[in-house]
Amino acid sequence: MLIDKNNLPLVAEEFMNDVHFEDVEIINELYETVQKYKNDKTEDNKNIVIEIYTKWFNHTVDHFKGEEDKMLELHFPPYMMHKGEHERCLEHMRYIIENFKNSGDEKTLLKYLEVDLINWLVNHIQTMDTVTAMFFKTGLSPCAMQH
Ligand SMILES: [Fe+2]
Ligand SMILES: [Fe+2]
Repeated sequence: MLIDKNNLPLVAEEFMNDVHFEDVEIINELYETVQKYKNDKTEDNKNIVIEIYTKWFNHTVDHFKGEEDKMLELHFPPYMMHKGEHERCLEHMRYIIENFKNSGDEKTLLKYLEVDLINWLVNHIQTMDTVTAMFFKTGLSPCAMQH
């Protein structure tokens, strides 16, 4: 297991927490398939990594879209800033899987999951998602909350 669900920061909106838990489940599943590939580099094991990564990518597209749709609906002021972080994350995810497909080298993928992704996810939930969920719940924008 790469990430313990119980250590994931929670936000004020349940629908967002639920999606984050699903996200972590797929990431843990993906991590296991990469370990398996690392120990036994068959074409089948490589394809399983790509398959689960694709499942995770598609889930992430929906995860981000769910937040973005609600931000638009409720006119969240820093919408572009939050969406920008999502887009950079998806770009990074695309780059990593393309690299793995071409090279079959799991080291970059593992480093990405163990370091970059965990840091990104925890940081993103603690900042953007936390502020956004609070706005969904209370209608208070981040600027108003500072006062
Ligand atoms: Fe999120
Ligand atoms: Fe987000």
